[in-house]
Amino acid sequence: MPTIPAHAIGGVITGWGTALPSKIVTNDDLSKTMETSDEWIRERTGIHRRHIGGSTAELSVESGRIAMAMAGVSPDQIDALVLSTTTPDRQVPATSATVQNLLGLKCGAFDINAACSGFVYGLVVAHGLIAMGSKKVLLIGTDTLSRITDWTDRNTAILFADGSGAAVIEATTGPTQLLGWDLDADGSAEELLYAEIGGNIHMDGKEVFRRAVRIMVDSAQKSMQIAGVTAKDIALIVPHQANTRIISAACDRLGIPMERTSTVLHETGNTSSASIPLALFDAADGGPMSGRTLHEGDLVLVVGFGAGMTAASAVLRWNGKGLRA
Ligand code: UT7
Repeated sequence: MPTIPAHAIGGVITGWGTALPSKIVTNDDLSKTMETSDEWIRERTGIHRRHIGGSTAELSVESGRIAMAMAGVSPDQIDALVLSTTTPDRQVPATSATVQNLLGLKCGAFDINAACSGFVYGLVVAHGLIAMGSKKVLLIGTDTLSRITDWTDRNTAILFADGSGAAVIEATTGPTQLLGWDLDADGSAEELLYAEIGGNIHMDGKEVFRRAVRIMVDSAQKSMQIAGVTAKDIALIVPHQANTRIISAACDRLGIPMERTSTVLHETGNTSSASIPLALFDAADGGPMSGRTLHEGDLVLVVGFGAGMTAASAVLRWNGKGLRA
């Protein structure tokens, strides 16, 4: 388990933004085209509706622009763009290249794909870039899962949706925001959740559910141990927004009550790379969807899991607009 070297240059989130397509698909809409019901989807997943539409680049540009405006940084000041996505617009080039151009950035840009854990992977990568001398990194998590969903398969179509969340992370002269992190993967489980190139998502939902709880708890405990904190210190947990029952079972095992959990999946469905930033920045914005509010100094635990099967977590000290380098 890597610990963060005491002398490493740290980072702080100075701006954030989110984007959801305007088209809303309700559970009732789905029940008109497949054998399901609003009641079943709400009870078994917690999802009420989801947003569908747009390309990965379009949603990324929207959230990225908002994050840069909030941070007060111009496109030429960004040193690197990291785009987490499992649904790139093209096989080649990386969608980050398209986004880099549309945002007018003058820096390196690359995609990372760690499925629904991707934003947390990106968070760690962004802090690594800052430790190596980058001053301002734009991190975006975007997925347009509706494009790889079989809309006749009730096992997956009720879950997946589209969205984006972005953060400007800047080098800081003050204390770093990232206190502990953990990244994990288990490729032996890849058949549980996959899409062939050009194909749709296939999922063994029950087995993914079972493993998700275990790997989220395991990863979260590692991050907390590295950060030197315990569950009682965590003001807010921001889990991957896949299923309320998964979140509730993981929080239960971690000893973190649901009142300290940010969930937006009732409004968003499972948006993969966008799921954690949508729930995190909702709380940072005072909780219009989650009803949760982040306060200066709060300890936040972000934890995801996904295809691969990846897991990732991090403990952050929320210092909003902390000191810039
Ligand atoms: O980012 C990671 C993405 N993946 C996940 O997080 C998926 C994790 N898994 C899950 O969230 C859940 O396993 C599902 C939501 C996919 C399914 O919930 P479940 O509680 O595991 O349902 P189940 O597959 O055990 O099915 C229970 C019943 C079955 O009927 P019988 O055999 O009891 O008569 C299913 O045929 O519910 C039926 N069913 C449905 N009924 C209405 C399954 N899907 C549906 C549906 N609507 N959409």
